[in-house]
Amino acid sequence: MRLFLDTASIEEIREINRWGVLKGVTTNPSLIAKEHGDPDAIWAEILATVDGDISLEVTDLSSADAMEAEGRKLAEKAENVVVKLPMTPDGLSAGKRLTNDGIRINVTLVFSPAQAILAAEIGAYIVSPFLGRLDDAGSDGMAVLRQITEIFAVQAYETQVLAASLRHPMHIIECAEAGADIATVPYDVFLKLVRHPLTDLGLQKFAADWNTLQTELKGRA
Ligand code: G3P
Repeated sequence: MRLFLDTASIEEIREINRWGVLKGVTTNPSLIAKEHGDPDAIWAEILATVDGDISLEVTDLSSADAMEAEGRKLAEKAENVVVKLPMTPDGLSAGKRLTNDGIRINVTLVFSPAQAILAAEIGAYIVSPFLGRLDDAGSDGMAVLRQITEIFAVQAYETQVLAASLRHPMHIIECAEAGADIATVPYDVFLKLVRHPLTDLGLQKFAADWNTLQTELKGRA
């Protein structure tokens, strides 16, 4: 399972990128707005920093033509751009036209296996079910993800399943068990993934024992 970072913060991206585990970044209009800057400048910095799939989302949802035109502009920014489109009839229509021309798309705001099948049928590169928001609404997001990965395996769909709207480390572990191709992980969850109290205790003990040895050796000299 590839790990992406779900953010538009360049500081967060730089930190996780240096761990060597980052395979891509997902952004959306809300994440860009949180940075309070010029979207084009933010996207350019992300594209220059990460050597992996970078999802950039269309914002002009007025028609399929508008989404297609904006998607083409986004795709021109760099080779690693994946154009993010919403799961709507217009989004599907624009997405199909883009995939026909070899532009990779990520169909977002997916909440059901039925929607995921539609994304696969237009040849989407990625489909993004939102697990946490399903949980928030009293549904079982992980069960929906499992259904999607099962259907995609049975149908041999090539579309990659990207688990989005993840809230805690158990989400990441269960997504890996369920066969998600990609998990897009918020920064605070990445920090929780790397930490374990026994690792911290182990480090303290190693350091203390090493210092004791150094004192012993100095005493003998
Ligand atoms: O990338 C979109 C998705 O991950 C959003 O998550 O936390 O806003 O539901 P959230």
